[in-house]
Amino acid sequence: MSNVIRGIGQLATCPITGGQDHIGIIEGAALVQQQGRVVWVGKDNDLPAEFQSLDALDAQGALVVPGLIDCHTHLCFGGWRGDEFEMRIQGQSYQAIAAAGGGIRSTVAATRNTSQDDLTAKASAALAQIIQLGVTTLECKSGYGLSVEHELKQLCVYQSLQQSQPIELVPTFLGAHIVPPEYSEQRDVYVRLICDTMLPQIAEEKLAEFCDVYIDTGAFSLDEGKQILSRAKALGLGLKAHAEQLSYTGAAAMAASLGAASLEHLEYLDHSDLQTIQQAGSVAVSLPFASLYLRERYLDCRSLIEQGIPVAVATDFNPGSAPSYQLPMAMTLACLNQQMTPAEVLKACTIHAAKALQREQRIGSLLPGFQADLAIINAPTVNHWMYHLQSNACVGVMKNGNWVHQV
Ligand code: NIG
Ligand code: FE
Repeated sequence: MSNVIRGIGQLATCPITGGQDHIGIIEGAALVQQQGRVVWVGKDNDLPAEFQSLDALDAQGALVVPGLIDCHTHLCFGGWRGDEFEMRIQGQSYQAIAAAGGGIRSTVAATRNTSQDDLTAKASAALAQIIQLGVTTLECKSGYGLSVEHELKQLCVYQSLQQSQPIELVPTFLGAHIVPPEYSEQRDVYVRLICDTMLPQIAEEKLAEFCDVYIDTGAFSLDEGKQILSRAKALGLGLKAHAEQLSYTGAAAMAASLGAASLEHLEYLDHSDLQTIQQAGSVAVSLPFASLYLRERYLDCRSLIEQGIPVAVATDFNPGSAPSYQLPMAMTLACLNQQMTPAEVLKACTIHAAKALQREQRIGSLLPGFQADLAIINAPTVNHWMYHLQSNACVGVMKNGNWVHQV
């Protein structure tokens, strides 16, 4: 099975090499894929004779980019929290709502009360919309079950969705999201449950590739987070951490020192930790929706980029701090509020997001050899795409060499 796409106005190859803004633009491009791999990309005029006789799709001057990668979501959850949205608008803080039993805790109750089938149907409906935006890979966390039964239920939702729909899912175990209410007086018992029961079973059954921890006031301490990540590492899982989101704890440097693939949020990062993160090679994942919805500070991406830290941008889709899976809108927000150029943001949602998921050898780029995951965007340039926020600029999506969305 092969496809030739010609008449591409601008194509971004997004190589892992070069700086954050090096996206390998080819003007007037063509691309050939065979058996799910990119085999040739270059100037349309230079298309080799062997491919010229094949039927070609005419992109009519559209933009072609690697399939977008949303490398941080909490896709599976019961209920919504629209009531808290109003409370926050009226002046209550996210932390105050959580301390009063709302926030993550209320989504835990709703998720426990929702069957696996209903959770699957809800997440599946979201994925059907997400793919149309050009997203071909999506990380998805547990963390609203917080018991053996309900954490496994969330991860099983992801396992079954992987069989039934085309987006590649990357499951992450976030049993350390908050301490569930039944363990509030015995935090250490819950940490042991994670380390001695949940993590070994999840690793054994390969239900998650990564382990994430939320380290913050009201969530887990630096020491608890370190115990959990160390255990996950010993069991062979990749590591992530929700770090420095609402206050500085030192979580980013701790997780980086353990070899974390990515560090999420980082709005309150201390600049003295930049070197540790850079040397560890961790990706910094910026989540502009969380800053927008919580009316909190945005991540200072410029200082990370100057330090040579690869930055990714993701939605953080969840019912509290980021109730949107519109990655293209998060990309425009990153431009406007984090002083990232459109080119830097495109790299953030392709090859750097792939690196955050330890997949930068296979996806996130359109250089020959990479998986043929791509999006056709109805815009003349990368700049124009992020500047002119359309309801959906994506008009075609190919996943692993197959068209999965075409307008
Ligand atoms: O990434 N901060 C922790 N977790 C999520 C929010 C989850 C929620 O509010 O339900 C986040 O922002
Ligand atoms: Fe998150």
